[in-house]
Amino acid sequence: MKLAISGKGGVGKTTIAAAIAKFLARTNATVYAIDADPDACLAPAIGIPAVEAAGIKPVVEMRDVIRAKAGGGAFYTLNPELDDFIDDFSYKLGNIRFFRMGDPKKGGSECYCRENTFLNALVSSLLLDKNESVIMDMGAGIEHLSRGTVRGVDMMLVVVEPSRNSVNTAGHVIRMAGELGIAKVGIVANKIRSNKEKQFIIDSFSQHPVIGFISFSESIWANAMEPSMTPEAEEELMSEVQNVCLNILGEVGGNNQN
Ligand SMILES: Nc1ncnc2c1ncn2[C@@H]1O[C@H](COP(=O)(O)OP(=O)(O)OP(=O)(O)O)[C@@H](O)[C@H]1O
Ligand SMILES: [Mg+2]
Repeated sequence: MKLAISGKGGVGKTTIAAAIAKFLARTNATVYAIDADPDACLAPAIGIPAVEAAGIKPVVEMRDVIRAKAGGGAFYTLNPELDDFIDDFSYKLGNIRFFRMGDPKKGGSECYCRENTFLNALVSSLLLDKNESVIMDMGAGIEHLSRGTVRGVDMMLVVVEPSRNSVNTAGHVIRMAGELGIAKVGIVANKIRSNKEKQFIIDSFSQHPVIGFISFSESIWANAMEPSMTPEAEEELMSEVQNVCLNILGEVGGNNQN
């Protein structure tokens, strides 16, 4: 299963990306969790200790390694051999392999073409060459993606909360996903407290399937201040995320088990 996750700021993209990665890691051999949000925070959400998470270097800043892999001359290869890189430079946590992409625009006037080419090659390789699941936390903007890079995405999950603003942003994200050629879009409604809120989401998206509902959880909310997620809340989230994953498989085809 190859998923890109987007939506308005603060709706719960990282919470849900992390929960899906953790859920799939319970059942799958390997899950690649990619933080493609320049304002990164997926690492602690999947359980990487905060001190270590802070020290994980974004791929875009690994200039020396990228030069060595992609060639240092004017004609650098677009398809460097990436398997070694993936093995050597992902952060491993159980079945999860984590990458932080970094900000592709970083560098101002300095040319980061080689790094950006490498990032695109890396994402394409994970999406197209690997059988394992890939979960990408895209942050709020997906405009820096290229069509080629995301052609392996099975589904763009657009996270919404019960608010008109998040529904409006979802509309923009859905349009961009279409422009990028992402075939399927699924809505995940987060922070749901009532049937009325569920109905609001259902009524707001007639064209796209609502893939699942994630309840508002006091424990998740409090966890933002200090680590305080209770095992019960974690299991409730996992069971809601299991539903989301089953529904995604139903949408993208049952033979796609990865
Ligand atoms: N189901 C939930 N119940 C309660 N609080 C939630 C839930 N999901 C997310 N939150 C809280 O909402 C806030 C935003 O969540 P999160 O960081 O996952 O959103 P995001 O969309 O990734 O944000 P950003 O756009 O900043 O990357 C966090 O404080 C998180 O704890
Ligand atoms: Mg986030």
